[in-house]
Amino acid sequence: MRCYILPVPGSIDALTLVERPDPTPGPRQVLVRVRATALNYRDLITVEGKYARSAPKPDLIPLSDGAGEIVAVGPGVSRLEVGDRVAGCFMQKWTGGEIDAAAQASAMGGAIDGMLTELAVLEEDGAVILPSGLSFEEGATLPCAAVTAWHALVEIGQLKAGDTVLVQGSGGVSIFALQFAKTIGARVIATSSSAAKAERLRKMGAEAVIDYKATPDWDQEALRLTNGRGADLVVEVGGAGTLPRSFLAARLGGRIAVIGLLTGPSQVDPMPILRRNLRVQGLYVGHKQMFEAMNRAIEANGLKPVIDKVLPFAEAKEAYRHLKSQNHFGKIVIAHS
Ligand SMILES: NC(=O)c1ccc[n+]([C@@H]2O[C@H](COP(=O)([O-])OP(=O)(O)OC[C@H]3O[C@@H](n4cnc5c(N)ncnc54)[C@H](OP(=O)(O)O)[C@@H]3O)[C@@H](O)[C@H]2O)c1
Repeated sequence: MRCYILPVPGSIDALTLVERPDPTPGPRQVLVRVRATALNYRDLITVEGKYARSAPKPDLIPLSDGAGEIVAVGPGVSRLEVGDRVAGCFMQKWTGGEIDAAAQASAMGGAIDGMLTELAVLEEDGAVILPSGLSFEEGATLPCAAVTAWHALVEIGQLKAGDTVLVQGSGGVSIFALQFAKTIGARVIATSSSAAKAERLRKMGAEAVIDYKATPDWDQEALRLTNGRGADLVVEVGGAGTLPRSFLAARLGGRIAVIGLLTGPSQVDPMPILRRNLRVQGLYVGHKQMFEAMNRAIEANGLKPVIDKVLPFAEAKEAYRHLKSQNHFGKIVIAHS
């Protein structure tokens, strides 16, 4: 099989295409012919050697997100069969309950090998059936960004019809958050630095879009748009650079789902959390049961992931460069065959 590996992190050019023996599934594992993968911001900072959570394993096969069909099963597999169309779970060993160290140590494309390969071995409990009606390209976008957005809205946010959610920018997580929020019947306020992207966010149902560069105090604008009440939930992908304003954009007793680190480190004052009675919760993607619940919602609502661009396997590095440019709207996908 052909796969990309990351011998020494440092830059996108470090990615190296190699030939490796085809793998064989062990007990309770499945072999997947990967048909498409998708990129996340984490994948970019992993190749650049800037991912703080953990050092990638040596000669890592990158990318957490991929979809394909099962071509072989190992002994004892009963839940899945050859021919099933599946996506891999971001964490191969987090099926439900609280996250633990073993789950974190099973994160694909980081702690363990990922999906930027023609063939991948997954745990039987580390794969889910794709929602019907989704192509492999669409299915490949789900494991990280979509499950993270679902976790933020449904598990942490407990979002219900009529609530207001604030999403930041037009990257993968934020667009899924917008789509799920609309499905639930919530109001969405988005931020974006691009007028063209703002227009697309509005067309997708965002009630208002604030340009966070032209309006640096976008938290005040969010308050104005909610008649001074603030958002019930902030889907916080910006990190240290946006968190202080997210505290102020949330309503009294509101929730902040702390997800991202797009903006650099800075001091964060905890006082607004206290004064505004905020519930601030970090999260790391989500488990298999969340993924399956999300897929049921995707099927029931005919939701389609937003794909910015599909590039061929041979142009994987170009896909990373496109992600780095931040010119994308939604997900960047690599078609494997
Ligand atoms: N905790 C977790 O489990 C988890 C899971 C997934 C992702 N993440 C993190 O969440 C973040 C987003 O990931 P992603 O894959 O969705 O990223 P992405 O697709 O690369 O998102 C990039 C977009 O973010 C927006 N952005 C950049 N700086 C911003 C700022 N200061 N304020 C508001 N928006 C800003 C820009 O939107 P505009 O062009 O519209 O301005 C940009 O196009 C990353 O830090 C990632 O590591 C964490």
